Amino acid sequence: MRVVSGIQPTGNLHLGNYLGAIRQWVAMQDAMATDDLCLFFLADLHALTQPVVPADLAANTIEMAATLLACGIDPERSILFNQARVPAHAELAWILGGTARVGWLNRMTQWKDKAGKNREGSSVGLFTYPVLQAADVLAYRATHVPVGEDQKQHLELARDIAAKFNQDFGVDLFPLPEPFVSTAAPRIMSLRDGRAKMSKSDPSDMSRINLVDDDDTIAGKLRKAKSDAEPLPDNIDALDGRPEARNLVTIHAALAGIEPAAVLAQFAGQGFGRFKPALADLAIATLGPIRQQLTALLADRGEVGRVLAEGAGKARTLSAPVLRAAQDAIGLQV
Ligand code: TYM
Repeated sequence: MRVVSGIQPTGNLHLGNYLGAIRQWVAMQDAMATDDLCLFFLADLHALTQPVVPADLAANTIEMAATLLACGIDPERSILFNQARVPAHAELAWILGGTARVGWLNRMTQWKDKAGKNREGSSVGLFTYPVLQAADVLAYRATHVPVGEDQKQHLELARDIAAKFNQDFGVDLFPLPEPFVSTAAPRIMSLRDGRAKMSKSDPSDMSRINLVDDDDTIAGKLRKAKSDAEPLPDNIDALDGRPEARNLVTIHAALAGIEPAAVLAQFAGQGFGRFKPALADLAIATLGPIRQQLTALLADRGEVGRVLAEGAGKARTLSAPVLRAAQDAIGLQV
């Protein structure tokens, strides 16, 4: 197994990133066999597809790396780095840009959502974003890519690009990467709107729980989270049409590591006045230790930078022969 995944360093990690992706990364790292390899990176090149403030990007990259370490990514066992320090990502993306089709990229829902009505004014990078994402995983001949539900379409595109490249140039270079969306890694929705995903770009901070939020803030956000006046039902189907209630049950289940049905078995018939404090206790118990670890790591940002630099060295060594093979396949001989 060759596991590869990334996250954009666009600000604080939130509970959706943690439950939807990072916790899964840590689980895969912890379950690794001796021949397996896990690579996790900060997608700082992807962050350039939206307006950037250079000082923020630099600080966010270090803070996000520290957060991944605090969540349990272990640089002794996994390779942790930032994308910009491994030029093979951008070089392979350019090569794969000859393989990907405009029609494929036009179908990407993230492009449609982020560009909205402003396609002409969007960056070229925002449009070709999924080609770089394909290069990210193909540069390591990844077999498994743990992501949240929202990134599945990009991974399917990476498979299409890999298959077309192999076929067009008569090689067997790229294995088709498998998007790995664990059932234990649910889609977490906004605390203000159960139909929108929890997101860093939501203007309301009350919509998300950040991994840096203190205990009182977590409790306050969950207390004020949108819910409804009905008691919790005894089965999942009865949550249809109650997206906020469903989201809070999903979060509880994910934090406790149990099925949503087991949460309902415990709370059926009870209102949110009882449920929310129990959920807050659970969230605080999970996130408190991560926050403490993060604070300790951020006291020495230089050390976090050194971890990234070491990871980038290993990633360069691993990706160089794959890039070279792709160059050879298309006739870029020197
Ligand atoms: P990003 O930075 O938006 O999110 C990082 C990971 O968190 C997951 N996620 C969620 N999961 C559940 N509920 C949510 N509300 C939620 N919000 C985010 C995402 O699915 C993702 O797994 N394009 C990617 C970064 C990337 C990448 C890659 C990923 C660049 N190259 C190569 C995998 C492989 C992104 O913007 O994720």
